[in-house]
Amino acid sequence: MPRSVCLFSHKLRCYGTGMSTVVREATPEDKPALVSFLTSEGLPADDVLSPGTVYWLAETAAGEVIASAGLEFGMDAGLLRSVATAERRRGEGLGKRMVQAAFEAARSRRLRRVYLFSTGAGGYFAGLGFVESSVEELVIALPNAPQVLRFSSLGWLSTEVAWRLDL
Ligand SMILES: CC(C)(COP(=O)(O)OP(=O)(O)OC[C@H]1O[C@@H](n2cnc3c(N)ncnc32)[C@H](O)[C@@H]1OP(=O)(O)O)[C@@H](O)C(=O)NCCC(=O)NCCS
Repeated sequence: MPRSVCLFSHKLRCYGTGMSTVVREATPEDKPALVSFLTSEGLPADDVLSPGTVYWLAETAAGEVIASAGLEFGMDAGLLRSVATAERRRGEGLGKRMVQAAFEAARSRRLRRVYLFSTGAGGYFAGLGFVESSVEELVIALPNAPQVLRFSSLGWLSTEVAWRLDL
């Protein structure tokens, strides 16, 4: 038996185990809640909802953020970031649903591939079709993406691992 049932209209509504969850695109007003959520999940929240980026969140009926994803853009590539699910809600498919929202947006913008940085969750993204790439390739594809600029300024690029999925 599925753990949740999801209906798609302009928002995605998932009903499972007595709780309802809505997946929607984030607005500028969501920034404080998103930053707080990402920080509590141990992910960097700098540059969240920067101009030209798109974020999605999943929230409970009470308005609590329980999952997120963001997409930054290059010429023909996107940079997936900020993929997280609240610890108590993991394993319900929310992470996959957030990644799918980003894929749908990438395809609608006719991007050819999606990259991401991940040192700790590579196995998760490999399960979604990503293959290990190189940081150099990612930087060439997304030279002005906020996360690339941030990691570059912090000197983190040399220790990062890049992943790529061809759309
Ligand atoms: C990675 C993460 C987003 C997955 O969220 P989720 O909502 O539980 O994901 P889903 O429900 O779509 O998938 C769960 C499955 O992924 C697997 N999985 C989770 N993390 C994994 C990892 N690091 N490596 C391999 N598999 C992983 C789970 O074991 C589970 O497998 P199952 O379906 O066979 O039981 C969540 O664990 C998380 O928020 N982690 C901390 C933040 C993070 O590292 N984000 C990545 C930033 S680059």
